[in-house]
Amino acid sequence: MKERGSLFVLDELERLQNEIAVSISQAATEKELSEIRVKVLGKKGTLTQLLKRLGTLPEKDRKEIGKKANQVKESTEARIEEALFLLSERERKEALEREKIDVTLPGRRIPVGKRHPLTQTLDQIIDIFSRLGFEVVEGPEVELDYYNFEALNIPKGHPAREMQATFFISEDVVLRTHTSPVQVRTMEKKQPPVRVICPGAVYRCDSDPTHSPMFHQVEGLLVDKGITFADLKGVLTVFVHQMFGKETKLRFRPSFFPFTEPSAEIDIECFICNGKGCGVCSQTGWLEILGSGMVDPAVYKFVNYDPEEVTGFAFGMGIERIAMLKYGIHDIRLFFTNDLRFLKQF
Ligand code: PHE
Repeated sequence: MKERGSLFVLDELERLQNEIAVSISQAATEKELSEIRVKVLGKKGTLTQLLKRLGTLPEKDRKEIGKKANQVKESTEARIEEALFLLSERERKEALEREKIDVTLPGRRIPVGKRHPLTQTLDQIIDIFSRLGFEVVEGPEVELDYYNFEALNIPKGHPAREMQATFFISEDVVLRTHTSPVQVRTMEKKQPPVRVICPGAVYRCDSDPTHSPMFHQVEGLLVDKGITFADLKGVLTVFVHQMFGKETKLRFRPSFFPFTEPSAEIDIECFICNGKGCGVCSQTGWLEILGSGMVDPAVYKFVNYDPEEVTGFAFGMGIERIAMLKYGIHDIRLFFTNDLRFLKQF
């Protein structure tokens, strides 16, 4: 027969066990479960308090009641563990549902870019001249009057300055009107043999369907012992044939530039009318593509080359003009308006 105190504790344990089971089964979150754990098993928890009374019970009942109390403790812990596990399982399932990926959806297309037609043309020009042994060099776009004119045998007040409508920054500084100043800068730095091409932007106060205030040129310069007009013709003929096809007819037409003597402009046969004469070639049958000539000895004076020792030739061409002829483009402004419908065609 147990004492009343013992019976009371046993009853309490029984009641607690049921109460715990119910509240665990109702808990919906991890937080609620850990609150239950504290409420029951914590320092001031209901079960902990009850266990403290064990010492006050008669010896003979302690073992049985102690065992029961441990059972309640263990089952509480087990239930909480199980509930936590079920909760995390449910969360995992919900996450899987939420984050479902439809692998059959078509992928996003990444548009492939293309190089600008001017870049393509320039790359081709550089490629041809590299294989002929020319090296690429560059010069500044904001240039001294000295390099743009003076040292190219175009003194102040000379009528040849009117050939190129110039943007002046100040009296002595201009936006370069051609890439020819790079000839002078190169010869100042380097002794012959010199074999360079100089691509870059140039500026002229000019704007219509075939002229843009900013456009691009490629300059060429070759100086060495014993260079003649035959070398100029040979190199530029190879260039024209590689650029426009080896059937292309060309001619060297006498011309004038202050920094070359003699000078020649190169024309290719008009491929619209095959030389018969049409609107594109102004009825001449020919299209001008570049200027060239033997470097004028006057230029060598500025860079301390000895004209008795070395000779050379130079040439310059407009990249836009070459691209327009090659691709049949009629308006130079198309190159700079970034219309994808235009750019995508190349
Ligand atoms: N610089 C000249 C121009 O822009 C072209 C040229 C370059 C002519 C080199 C002869 C030699 O018109």
